[in-house]
Amino acid sequence: METVIARTQSEVDTNEAVRSAVSALQSGEVVALPTETVYGLAADAFSPAAVEKIFAAKDRPSFDPLIVHVHHKDAIRDVAEIPEEIKKAVVQLIETFWPGPLTLVLPKKPAVSKAVTGGLDTVAVRQCDHPVFHRIIRNFGGPLAAPSANLFGRMSPTSAQAVMDQLEGRIPLIIDGGACSRGLESTILKIEPGEKKPLFTVLRPGPITEVELKKFGKVVFAERNAEVEDSSPEAPGMLENHYAPNKPLRLLTSPGDFSPENGKRYALLSYRGQAKDGYLESYEWDHISVLSPGSGRVAEAGTRFFHVLRQLDAMEEIDEIISEPMPDRGVGKALLEKLKKAAVKG
Ligand code: TXA
Ligand code: MG
Repeated sequence: METVIARTQSEVDTNEAVRSAVSALQSGEVVALPTETVYGLAADAFSPAAVEKIFAAKDRPSFDPLIVHVHHKDAIRDVAEIPEEIKKAVVQLIETFWPGPLTLVLPKKPAVSKAVTGGLDTVAVRQCDHPVFHRIIRNFGGPLAAPSANLFGRMSPTSAQAVMDQLEGRIPLIIDGGACSRGLESTILKIEPGEKKPLFTVLRPGPITEVELKKFGKVVFAERNAEVEDSSPEAPGMLENHYAPNKPLRLLTSPGDFSPENGKRYALLSYRGQAKDGYLESYEWDHISVLSPGSGRVAEAGTRFFHVLRQLDAMEEIDEIISEPMPDRGVGKALLEKLKKAAVKG
């Protein structure tokens, strides 16, 4: 299959790209679309046959559920039940963070097939904040199932070219909406009634942080239990557990942690590129990439994270990627989680 990239630089190109995307989606095809987080691989959420094509293109196991994107806030009711006890919190979250990088896990409506939810009775739903995505989903007029547009277990794409590099020949169309402004997948939240406040369990840390969420409920982070998650469809939130570059990646906990092997060429993935953090001058690195130069800002590091990892992966003069630890706060939590999953074990 030939994979075409449709550009959106001019208004004329955008109109054409939107038309082709909508018509492909209406005929049950998959289309890679830009979002503010990462590129998604979209299909009609109400068509099990179309949804099946997403799993096939990604080589994704059928029990790993997809995120459903809605075209306006009220359309959440087309796909999810909102239990009375948590209704206030859900409305507050939607009013505050939608459209945006927050995904809510709620009981599913019968119209959503278990092909989408990986057999679960819950559905993950969000409204995306990207102008081109918005036009496409509005013209399509219904919910779109869309996981990240990468092969299962690989890094999420934050540009049209990055989608092409992984899915060329597997999908017909990629809409190029530029680089993703957030650069990291959405925060996924399970919402349950709590004692005083509703209970929010963060299933996947992302751009919307604990500090922002805790105004509306009690926030806890899901403990990752690899054995359960890798075998049980009941706990799929973090199943896609590699996010891996092709090169080996090691995550350091301190500068003294690193012991080089003879002849190997190492790149340092540095948080803010400051000598005082101890990593920069601890070794004669063959290359250094800095995520947030200067004083360090975790949000900026988040935006650049996958992009920089892809660059390091493509460098022929580097054998391994050695990462500094990221700050365990805000968006840094998401980076740490991804680095831990990508890291070579042992
Ligand atoms: O930012 C994003 O969320 C991007 C863009 C395209 O919207 N999408 C994305 O989708 O990252 P995906 O499929 O790569 O990740 C969705 C995650 C998976 O880890 C899946 O297991 C989890 O959401 N998930 C989906 N439905 C769930 C459910 N009902 N309960 C628990 N976890 C669920
Ligand atoms: Mg993904």
